[in-house]
Amino acid sequence: AIIRRSDYRAPDWLVPDLALDFDLDAAHTRVHATLSVARNGAHGRPLRLDGDGLVPLLVRVDGQELTPEGWSMEGGALIIPLTGDAHSVETLVDIAPASNSKLMGLYASGGLLCTQCEAEGFRRITFFPDRPDVLSRYHVRMTADKALYPVLLSNGDPVGQGEGADGRHWAEWRDPFPKPCYLFALVAGDLACNADSFVTMSGREVRLGIWVCEADLPRTAHAMKALKDSMAWDERVYGREYDLDVFNIVAVADFNFGAMENKGLNIFNSRYILADPETATDMDYDGVEGVVAHEYFHNWSGNRVTCRDWFQLSLKEGFTVFRDQNFSADMGSHAVKRIEDVRILRAAQFQEDAGPLAHPIRPESYMEISNFYTSTVYNKGAEIIRMMALMLGPERFRAGADLYFDRHDGQAATCEDFVRAMEEGGAIDLTQFRRWYEQAGTPRVAARLAHDPVTGAATLTLAQAVPPTPGQPDKQPMVIPLRTALFDPATGSHSGEQLLMLTQAEQSFTFEGFAQSPLLSINRGFSSPVIIESERSQADLAFLSAHDDDPFARYEAMQQLMVNVLVGTVAGQPVDESTVIAAIRQTATNPALDPAFIAEAIRLPAEAYLGDQMAMVDPDAIHAARDALQQRIGVELEPLWRDIHARTQANGFALSPAAKGARALRNVALTYLVASGAEDGPAIAFTQFDRADNMTERQSALATLASGRSNEREAALDIFYHRYSDDPLVLDKWFQTQALAFHPDTVDLVEELGRHKAFTLSNPNRVRALYGAFAANQWAFHHASGKGYRLVADCIMALDRLNPQTAARLAPPLGRWKRFDASRAAMMRAELERILAQPGLSKDVTEQASKSLE
Ligand code: ARG
Ligand code: ZN
Repeated sequence: AIIRRSDYRAPDWLVPDLALDFDLDAAHTRVHATLSVARNGAHGRPLRLDGDGLVPLLVRVDGQELTPEGWSMEGGALIIPLTGDAHSVETLVDIAPASNSKLMGLYASGGLLCTQCEAEGFRRITFFPDRPDVLSRYHVRMTADKALYPVLLSNGDPVGQGEGADGRHWAEWRDPFPKPCYLFALVAGDLACNADSFVTMSGREVRLGIWVCEADLPRTAHAMKALKDSMAWDERVYGREYDLDVFNIVAVADFNFGAMENKGLNIFNSRYILADPETATDMDYDGVEGVVAHEYFHNWSGNRVTCRDWFQLSLKEGFTVFRDQNFSADMGSHAVKRIEDVRILRAAQFQEDAGPLAHPIRPESYMEISNFYTSTVYNKGAEIIRMMALMLGPERFRAGADLYFDRHDGQAATCEDFVRAMEEGGAIDLTQFRRWYEQAGTPRVAARLAHDPVTGAATLTLAQAVPPTPGQPDKQPMVIPLRTALFDPATGSHSGEQLLMLTQAEQSFTFEGFAQSPLLSINRGFSSPVIIESERSQADLAFLSAHDDDPFARYEAMQQLMVNVLVGTVAGQPVDESTVIAAIRQTATNPALDPAFIAEAIRLPAEAYLGDQMAMVDPDAIHAARDALQQRIGVELEPLWRDIHARTQANGFALSPAAKGARALRNVALTYLVASGAEDGPAIAFTQFDRADNMTERQSALATLASGRSNEREAALDIFYHRYSDDPLVLDKWFQTQALAFHPDTVDLVEELGRHKAFTLSNPNRVRALYGAFAANQWAFHHASGKGYRLVADCIMALDRLNPQTAARLAPPLGRWKRFDASRAAMMRAELERILAQPGLSKDVTEQASKSLE
């Protein structure tokens, strides 16, 4: 069945209050729910309570048990005809957390019991109108074995606890803020707490707790710091204060995605909580900080103001990603954070927007909402908010955000509500801008600069086109704000950046006063999520890579230099590598630049990104070209790489931005040094691997070795495995590093790793570490034999029986067949067809695979 945005109807029944009583047990949990229901408007429709796999053991209305004639079941839902306008409805069900392999609803992870309800998991716990526009006050009571589950947590504030019979105990929690059921959470288990506190701007003290198993307590400090920093940041930047007396976070090992913003009780994938230098890379540390912030920020953008229906998902996710991005930028380097965010956007979202699964940030229809927790909704959604913030400027954007939060506090709102608040609070007309919510596809902007030496005028002509996407053959022009500067070659500088507003299909802008033709620096800071097509010479790009004062534009010029050479090589054209090498040398030796920035700028673009620049992707040619250029850069600048690698050797571990930057640069230098083929390269990498006092250097040395064929390769992988075999998060890195390796045998190795005793389909992190990473390794996944496609399809089919949501996330790489040669395309399609032929295939995978074939 297809759900459409246009079909929205207000709920027939509201549930102002809900009491839940859990008798917890891994094999059999009894859930007794008492709903106060109220008819919403004048209608005669029955009460419909969603359920998924539930059997009603008892149904009572106003205290009276109904006979089986008093209710009926309709595709999992419980239907109860009611006569009055307000009733008390009780149900009792029995669920089995231990056998819940979908990790939606109430499930067991390790010895814990925990929940995940977004988007539609609550209906696997109890009968309820499982839609985000039904907001209720929750009162939760839990009873459980005290030895197995000494800690009992839920949303809101604890209001009571006590001992029961037979070694059991109970706890009660009450959440005063009405919330949709997707924000319900419960955790029971043997947990230790990193306890701290935060005093809010109005002077209230909030008790903070990060709950993990005892052994992991020492790894929670970074998450706690991130939480307190986030709370202070939201007060300072958005004026938003925390609203309950307690804020708890729990880390669990088995989790379908990153984390969940349940009111007052965030539940996290442990990879986004646990960090220490021995086991976490700098990227992991940043991931912890960013996700802790993201979930905390949802307390306002998501919980206090929630979504009316799931088509509005970007209302909370796009905005919250935008907020966490800015927070992380404030905690570290704005330039580097922007580069990282754009890299993610281009790698994931641009690919999605160019393929069969393209959809607007506010989709029009879906079969399975879980499939729409996408890079488009999240990351492109954040870019749309970022453009509004740019057009409005900080004060007016804040006024718009204030109006949005104040006007919709306690409500289930829409994207349209947000845009209207920005229009009114920010005094701007966003009529045409709304197309960003409607149209899918990445706009392409062709930029042509013409110069008249007589008048000194430079004319910039911009033409935009939004490519057709599924269901949207024709597109209207978008509002595209482009931060632009023109560099005068005579002075080597520009006379001020301008914000050009491209709103028509084609538009020209004229600039005066250039004796010589200027150089174009456009979409600075990546002000719009578009693809710029401009013919800039390698010399111009080299100039900008050395002189542009916008760090993103400078990075971009450097990357474009490399892309041009690599794309030219693949196309069999003569290329000039020396300009690239000179630019790398200049950037790498510029003492004025932040090492973290240098590391970003001088790194070669990913193979997949290069593929995206070509109509037809030739994975082997791309790999060969990139490998050759990497080697050439390694050889030509070998002394520089040796020097950087030696110079960035730290004396003791620190997590400061400077120390992180040094490690990032050190690792790029190591990659080039080993790529040079220098005889001692693998030994230097092995020494770094062996002696490192932190995971960033250890893992990156391992990755470098894993992509080569030295004797050190096997030794390092072996040592790593044995050293960390009882740490699941680090073992994930062992799988991931091999799946991402540039090695001719990666596909066979991944097949073997799939049978390794430490591999399991029941842990989503492990599955992503092996198969998710492998499918992102363009050269290996697109092995001409088609083996890579078969491996991933086999995994999807096996995993679908356990965990359809995570299985469906592996499908999109197979859907990119249009971009590959006929032989590969046929094999990719055949795998999608094989998947679709599997009996009992989930809705999740069916939707992804069938759309991918269209
Ligand atoms: N709201 C969570 C977050 O972004 C993610 C929930 C994902 N749900 C899903 N069904 N994929 O913070
Ligand atoms: Zn989110």
